[in-house]
Amino acid sequence: MAVEAGRDIAPAKGKLGVMLVGLGAVSTTFIAGVETVRRARGLPIGSLSQMGTIRLGKRTEKRSPKIKEFVPLADLKDLVFTAWDPIPDDAYTAAVKAGVLDRHEHLEPIKDFLQDIKPLPAAFDQYYVKRLQGTNVKRGKTKRELAEQVREDIRGFRKTAGVSRVVIVWCASTEVFITPGPVHQSLAAFEQAMEQNDPAIAPSMLYAYAALMENVPFANGAPNLTVDIPALQHLAEERKIPIGGKDFKTGQTMMKTVLAPAFKARMLGLAGWYSTNILGNRDGEVLDDPESFKTKEESKLGVLEYILQPDQYPELYGNVFHKVRINYYPPRGDNKEGWDNIDIFGWLGYPMQIKVDFLCRDSILAAPIVLDLALFFDLAQRARLSGIQEWLSFYFKSPQTAPGLYPEHDLFIQQTKLKNTLRWLMGEEQITHLGIEYYEKA
Ligand SMILES: NC(=O)c1ccc[n+]([C@@H]2O[C@H](COP(=O)([O-])OP(=O)(O)OC[C@H]3O[C@@H](n4cnc5c(N)ncnc54)[C@H](O)[C@@H]3O)[C@@H](O)[C@H]2O)c1
Repeated sequence: MAVEAGRDIAPAKGKLGVMLVGLGAVSTTFIAGVETVRRARGLPIGSLSQMGTIRLGKRTEKRSPKIKEFVPLADLKDLVFTAWDPIPDDAYTAAVKAGVLDRHEHLEPIKDFLQDIKPLPAAFDQYYVKRLQGTNVKRGKTKRELAEQVREDIRGFRKTAGVSRVVIVWCASTEVFITPGPVHQSLAAFEQAMEQNDPAIAPSMLYAYAALMENVPFANGAPNLTVDIPALQHLAEERKIPIGGKDFKTGQTMMKTVLAPAFKARMLGLAGWYSTNILGNRDGEVLDDPESFKTKEESKLGVLEYILQPDQYPELYGNVFHKVRINYYPPRGDNKEGWDNIDIFGWLGYPMQIKVDFLCRDSILAAPIVLDLALFFDLAQRARLSGIQEWLSFYFKSPQTAPGLYPEHDLFIQQTKLKNTLRWLMGEEQITHLGIEYYEKA
């Protein structure tokens, strides 16, 4: 069955400016990685947009182009980067301090390129990230003034970097936990709250507001509320700008959203899931603050509830003990270790255990996600997709959804949604995996 003819997508002409909030481990690993790939000194492993293929039509047709050849994405050579950070280190110094990429193999060869990326002063307030101190910060009497300064930065970057389009990805620290309140409900209340320096307006919201006012898509890689509030969602819809978040889905949660759907698919019960991590980078230090951890905890805890649907399966999932811990442990740096102990039960209730020990590298997993989000949000903008981009849930721990919809967390449903959206954009048939036509000939 053919679907509609697809969308007119504006071509990816000219340069794409990628403005990153935060120039820490994830951002520098992403920027240095893209430059290394551009110089043909490494592969963009982990990036679906660069490495992935997409099957089109029937299995017998053998059409599986690369995604980047199927949809008109910006070419890596056309990406230009900048960032904001309250810490004044340029991208080279920040990357060396982050200690993710090998200094001699990956940073020295592109030192000049990285040194040219100096962070713009940040809209920063230590109230929201207790463990950080920043000197490279914007000054203003009100939060609104700070948002206006961010808007000026975006306009300035458009001009000086000569970019035709811009996307913003939040790769900055996790802010303290904020619940949605009255000032987040409408644009008028939000703007007034900025004028009044209301504590419910976090710095991340100022960047998101500035992005939308400058017609720039905004993706949120941390669990902060940020753009997940009605005021900014309406603004995005009104101005026809793509938004999305929250929280890059990288290590432990990625594994959780692979394993939990498998248990549910086989109707295996779950008694408990204990997840703990040791992490020694700056992110780990920030998350050592209970208020920032609370934001992360909510994001990490949510997935099981939605995947397992305890209301529908009370005998299997009605009494799950789920715990998530993050422990700051400096010796490991960015090389996180995530342990999971999973207590499941099978036929007649007999218990079994699964242990997962994931020795991962946080920023190595996050960098390709930043790349894909930058490219797909730019594509979304050129395809006139506006508001929440649920088809990009694949990349997030707590995907934003339209009001009234529960988020889809299963990684493979998310992947199908993403690929079917690409097929739909290009006027190709949806793939339902029914496949009856291979067996029942007309
Ligand atoms: N690496 C992963 O696997 C992963 C997964 C999910 C989410 N995240 C999130 O991504 C974010 C970045 O992680 P990271 O490891 O690069 O952390 P990092 O601490 O190395 O870098 C974050 C940077 O953000 C800056 N910053 C803080 N507040 C800011 C503000 N208001 N404006 C501009 N810059 C600001 C900090 O100074 C710091 O340099 C964190 O929120 C983290 O929780 C990371």
